[in-house]
Amino acid sequence: MGSSDPVIPPILIVPSVLPADFARLGDECRDLEAAGVDRIQFDVMDGRFVPNLTFGPDVIAAVRPTVAVPFEAHLMIEEPDHLVPRFVEAGCDTIIVHAETCVHLHRTLAAVREFGASPAVALNPHTPLEVVANVLDLCEMVLIMTVNPGFGGQAYLSTMEPKIAAARALLDTADHWIDLEVDGGIGPSTITEAAVAGANVFISGSALYRHVGGLGAATDELRQLAGKAWANRT
Ligand code: DX5
Repeated sequence: MGSSDPVIPPILIVPSVLPADFARLGDECRDLEAAGVDRIQFDVMDGRFVPNLTFGPDVIAAVRPTVAVPFEAHLMIEEPDHLVPRFVEAGCDTIIVHAETCVHLHRTLAAVREFGASPAVALNPHTPLEVVANVLDLCEMVLIMTVNPGFGGQAYLSTMEPKIAAARALLDTADHWIDLEVDGGIGPSTITEAAVAGANVFISGSALYRHVGGLGAATDELRQLAGKAWANRT
């Protein structure tokens, strides 16, 4: 981080809607907003890039009016360029594309910004961090996957922690703050390690929805654990 950047960055808790009841998605978004989440992530899957199929921009547009909390679209889809404007129009503030799906990643990220959204890049577990080294000027966030994308409820890949640490070091070379997000198997038993490694934005689906205290308590606990980890880290 540059000298003017905060030592402890914002800690953002961002639920994945995968475990939500899709028959009442609007109410689920209201419950998440009431729980105090920082953003809501919609896991967009096409059945090609990942072996699962979820929803498109029209579903997100339908629930957009129900809450004020920002939305992010995690595009786990091949050839995302032609759909980026649809997700921005649907009300997504952040658009996450996978580096593995973008032949012209620099052009795609620039287009996300031109459409008025915040550009972000996701990397699958096998993808080298160097893939984003030449597009940091266009990134507001980098997402390091801590599972292989496609399904919730998978085990956190602790082998990604060196990659998370290397990513934080790389992002700190940029002339602006770039958030570092992790997604997959994040819960009370794993968030500390991910935060110590350098993540400051945390996607949680299963662990958040399964928390015995409910969504609010889960959100608070995750935020406290990550904040404590960052306080001890710096
Ligand atoms: C993977 C999905 C999941 C989801 C989070 O493609 O993107 O990572 O968001 O699921 P949990 O928190 O259940 O691992």
